[in-house]
Amino acid sequence: MMTEPHSPAFPLERNSLVYVAGHRGLVGGAIWRELHRKGFTNLIGATSAELDLRNRDAVFTFFATQRPTVVIDAAARVGGILANNSYPAEFLSDNLQIQVNMMDAANSVDVDRLLFLGSSCIYPKFATQPIREESLLTGALESTNDSYAIAKIAGIMHVQASRRQYGRRWISAMPTNLYGPGDNFHPQNSHVLPGIIRRFHEAKLSGINDVSVWGTGTPRREFLYVDDLARACFFLLENYDSPEIINVGFGDDISIRDLSELVAGVVGYSGTISQDRSKPDGTPRKLLDVSRLKALGWRPHVSLEDGLEITYRWFLEHEHNLRSK
Ligand SMILES: NC(=O)c1ccc[n+]([C@@H]2O[C@H](COP(=O)([O-])OP(=O)(O)OC[C@H]3O[C@@H](n4cnc5c(N)ncnc54)[C@H](OP(=O)(O)O)[C@@H]3O)[C@@H](O)[C@H]2O)c1
Repeated sequence: MMTEPHSPAFPLERNSLVYVAGHRGLVGGAIWRELHRKGFTNLIGATSAELDLRNRDAVFTFFATQRPTVVIDAAARVGGILANNSYPAEFLSDNLQIQVNMMDAANSVDVDRLLFLGSSCIYPKFATQPIREESLLTGALESTNDSYAIAKIAGIMHVQASRRQYGRRWISAMPTNLYGPGDNFHPQNSHVLPGIIRRFHEAKLSGINDVSVWGTGTPRREFLYVDDLARACFFLLENYDSPEIINVGFGDDISIRDLSELVAGVVGYSGTISQDRSKPDGTPRKLLDVSRLKALGWRPHVSLEDGLEITYRWFLEHEHNLRSK
């Protein structure tokens, strides 16, 4: 289903020097692959060991030396509910530093095109569903990830301020929950979907016949395959130039119970799935309104079933080489 317009409004030169911050992560890795597919040959990336984006001097030196013309900010300290809730000070501080350093350095060398990635957690806890972009800053945040959300909201403001003050064509995209090759399957730090994949897989291997999933199973969540997100990011860079944030989602959601059963099928776990009702459910529904993106002509390509199959295959191929944190 190829629906993207053939002539982009703001085409990127295929020989542009593109810096993908966080290029080894779930999102950055997918964007890197997508840019390769599109014929970009001048890509630069640096691991956090090579360039700690919290180090302001190092970031300025990197930008002054490399002089990228396009910047994609997919670097962040990221984690699931447990990690966010356990390390709120670090989630706030690291993410603010990463963004401020990168955007200030990008401004210092006149980077004209930049894409900042936020997250659906920036929206108020009780935002009307599906969540429209206009609901930003209209209510209180979910307390388990408010530090992360505030950092991301500051990033959105930095993009808007840079547009206003320097006339940059910088944009901010707000992805829904993502999954795919390169995800974090860490037992404590992962998001819900890779966490469930790993637990069902381990139960299958060790012959455990019951796996419990947090809460009642009734909350509904939306999941987008990460290569679709990468296509959307590239599409937005070439077709969207506005200070307004834009949601990137699948457009449909699924209950945690149904998701668990789907994952069990993909993984081949045949035991029972019980609900641990002592654990919180979180918000009953979280679905992004994607009409703004749809109106531009973009649609996802990969169904949840297909995306899960690919992700589980990747997990099996990398099982002994997964992230350690
Ligand atoms: N995953 C999701 O479901 C989801 C949903 C919505 C939005 N997003 C957004 O997408 C972006 C990327 O998330 P992700 O899921 O791809 O996370 P990820 O897989 O954990 O990747 C994050 C990347 O950031 C880099 N990084 C972290 N701290 C750094 C530092 N101090 N200096 C330099 N690099 C640093 C890491 O580099 P190294 O590997 O070299 O350490 C890593 O490659 C984030 O802004 C996130 O909010 C993600």
